[in-house]
Amino acid sequence: MSDTTPILVTGGAGFIGARLARRLARLGHPVTVFDTFSEQVHGNGSAARTGVAVDGINVIQGDVRDGDLIERALRASRARVVIHLAAETGTGQSHTEPAHYVDVNVTGTARLVEAIREVGGIRRVILSGTRAVYGEGACVDRAGLRVAAVARREADLAIGDYAPKDKVGRSLRPVATASDTPAAPTSVYASTKLMQEYLLTQGLWGSETHVGLMRLQNVYGPGQTLNNPYTGVLSVFARKIADGEKLEVFEDGAITRDFVYVDDAVEAFVSMVQTPIVTAQPIDIGSGKGATLLEVAKKLLETMDADPDALRVTGAFRPGDIRHALADISAAKAVLGWHPNVALDSGLIRFAEWAIAAPRTAVA
Ligand SMILES: NC(=O)c1ccc[n+]([C@@H]2O[C@H](COP(=O)([O-])OP(=O)(O)OC[C@H]3O[C@@H](n4cnc5c(N)ncnc54)[C@H](O)[C@@H]3O)[C@@H](O)[C@H]2O)c1
Repeated sequence: MSDTTPILVTGGAGFIGARLARRLARLGHPVTVFDTFSEQVHGNGSAARTGVAVDGINVIQGDVRDGDLIERALRASRARVVIHLAAETGTGQSHTEPAHYVDVNVTGTARLVEAIREVGGIRRVILSGTRAVYGEGACVDRAGLRVAAVARREADLAIGDYAPKDKVGRSLRPVATASDTPAAPTSVYASTKLMQEYLLTQGLWGSETHVGLMRLQNVYGPGQTLNNPYTGVLSVFARKIADGEKLEVFEDGAITRDFVYVDDAVEAFVSMVQTPIVTAQPIDIGSGKGATLLEVAKKLLETMDADPDALRVTGAFRPGDIRHALADISAAKAVLGWHPNVALDSGLIRFAEWAIAAPRTAVA
């Protein structure tokens, strides 16, 4: 795609979307942001509007479930590329509000598919998917052989046995997860995100619109909403530190996540726009390094100059949570020529500096 290809970004006022929209506009793309300015994410939305009120970005307030409105937005924007980020994103919240998550994430994506087919001329749609679709992810047994992990059982978790297991209950060792790992979502959120992948690939099969799928690990950095209690462990931690509350670290603190800095994630999307061909083979985007939640909690307390003991390992667990997440990013390197640039320590400093100064609804 050339630098002047018009792009429509659904969810383009959000944490990743706003930064991506601004980056694409700076590259010269005419960008249209299509976003409902969800109150849970944006409060009254004024900071989010300011965040995308820059030259080269046109903002349309709308809901992806409104097919007529998306059609009009696609026509008005003359988009040739769509990047689909609009979604409800809370794993825990999806457990208590499954119908709403299906409505926004699944029905919303179906409406987008219909609109793309109806309007025509869209050459590429890129989905901001998630590693959550893997569930526990790639694991090996004692002999080092790949074995599928099943969803962890409540009875095991309740007695502090947190390890991923195979279907006969043997403990497994997690390894880096690549897209040849079968999907096995363990939460409603993850199931809806997998359904988005299916809807786009199946719904646009045989059409002029090629589908690119990305599966992001935990994205963090400036601009991550601090007022949405349902998403982003680092923003939840940052909010608690700013409020002088103790951090609650789930399970035994050894849950592992692969934290990828937002600008690195944004560059991965830019690579997906620029790469000559996309295939429906999902591309994993992460730092390629795991960090335990206890480790990042301690680092964030230190970086935000807070009491280093202001945390509690609770032993609590959440439905749908998985134990270890670590991306195999070799496909992203090989296919997109992409690699992460920001190490966790320096990313946390940038995030902390922003979080200390940021009003709750700010967009970086
Ligand atoms: N942040 C992460 O760590 C992460 C990891 C994996 C995948 N993702 C995916 O990336 C995307 C963006 O995530 P984010 O962290 O920027 O989230 P975010 O909540 O900051 O952004 C989502 C945006 O979508 C908008 N939105 C919500 N419902 C909408 C609707 N019905 N119609 C139109 N817009 C709507 C919200 O107003 C918000 O601006 C999501 O699809 C998410 O599943 C994020």
